[in-house]
Parts: sequence; C-alpha cells; structure tokens
Amino acid sequence: MKISTNINKDVEFVLIDNKALNKRIKELGKEITKDYKGKNPVLLCLLKGSLHFMTKLAENITLPIEYECLKASSYANTVSTGKVSVLVNMLNSIKDKDVIIVEDIVDTGHTMKNILEILEKEGARSIEIATMLNKQARREVEGINPKYVGFEIPDYFVIGFGLDYNEFYRNLPYIGVLKEEVYKNNEQ
Ligand code: IMP
Ligand code: MG
Repeated sequence: MKISTNINKDVEFVLIDNKALNKRIKELGKEITKDYKGKNPVLLCLLKGSLHFMTKLAENITLPIEYECLKASSYANTVSTGKVSVLVNMLNSIKDKDVIIVEDIVDTGHTMKNILEILEKEGARSIEIATMLNKQARREVEGINPKYVGFEIPDYFVIGFGLDYNEFYRNLPYIGVLKEEVYKNNEQ
C-alpha cells in the first residue's frame, strides 16, 4: 500500500474539521445526559473506529456511565461484505442495562443489524445507537435509525478521527476524504 509519510497528503479535502467535530459531539453528550437522567447507561464502543468518538462523547456526559468494548469485523477495502463476526467480546454483562452503541459510521447498515441481533440476545433493558457519521443514502437495511447522529454525510469514503483505510489514517484529527489514487493503486 502506498501511503505518504505525512498522512495529511493523502487527503483530497477536509469534510469535517476538528472544531466542528468537538462542537457537535459536545451537543450529543448534553442530549444523552438529558435523555438518560437518573440512569447509568453503558457506552458500548465498537472497536476500533469509534475510539475517538467514544472518548469525546464520554467526556461530555455528566452521568455515571460504564464503558464496554466490542470488536466486530466486516470490512475489506472500501466495499462492505455484509458479514460480521465478533472478534473481541465485552467483559461485563449488559443484562438489564441501558446500552448506547457508539459507532463511527453507519453506512449500508449491515454491520449494525448484525450487532443489534447479537446484543438483543444479551437481555439489555434498552439499546440505542449513537453514530458519529451517517450515510443515510447508502442504507440497504431497513429499521436502522440511530437516535444520536453527529453528521449526515454524502457517499464519500472518509478517513480520520478513528476511521481507517486498511488500518491507517485513524489518527487524523478531522474527517477527510481519501484521495482516489490511494485506493485505486491498492485495489487494482
Ligand atoms: P456498514 O455495514 O456498511 O453499515 O458499514 C459499517 C462499517 O464500515 C463502519 O463501522 C466502518 O467501520 C466501515 N465504513 C463504512 N463507511 C466507511 C468510510 O467511509 N470510511 C471508513 N470506514 C467505513
Ligand atoms: Mg466500524
């Protein structure tokens, strides 16, 4: 894979800058704090893409919350395979808990559908979805409607703030659109 020594050089343009991300995530944190007043929700981080969103979101919630992590895999290059398997499981039970799934991006919705099916068997009291980004136009699965959405975005392949292309670019502090030449070179 051909990757620049300065990863910023592989970005076509910045879609959402760091300031806008932080501002919006702060709003979501306030909304969750209000909606879950008197409760102790579990923030369930879907690794690894949601790491940045998860920590920023949690910092902006003033309730007593718990963290859980789950690693599901579904992606090869830029096209979703629609298949999900759990690679790393949660440490504690979510039975009778109010769970907020924290996701980086909901695209076709296949991953989220699979994860919801897995979690519904665990007996949570409630399950909601908080996603940093939503590509509604690409949805293939009905009924996947995140309650908390950071930004609605068009059909670009985006990287940064946790999101990767072949495991790189997660550490960009903004959401950017990857230069076509980077994935063209790689997928030919
Ligand atoms: P879905 O199953 O098509 O909804 O895909 C969801 C998963 O695919 C997300 O959790 C991401 O890991 C990944 N994904 C979808 N779109 C993008 C993108 O534009 N950039 C990076 N990863 C993406
Ligand atoms: Mg993901």
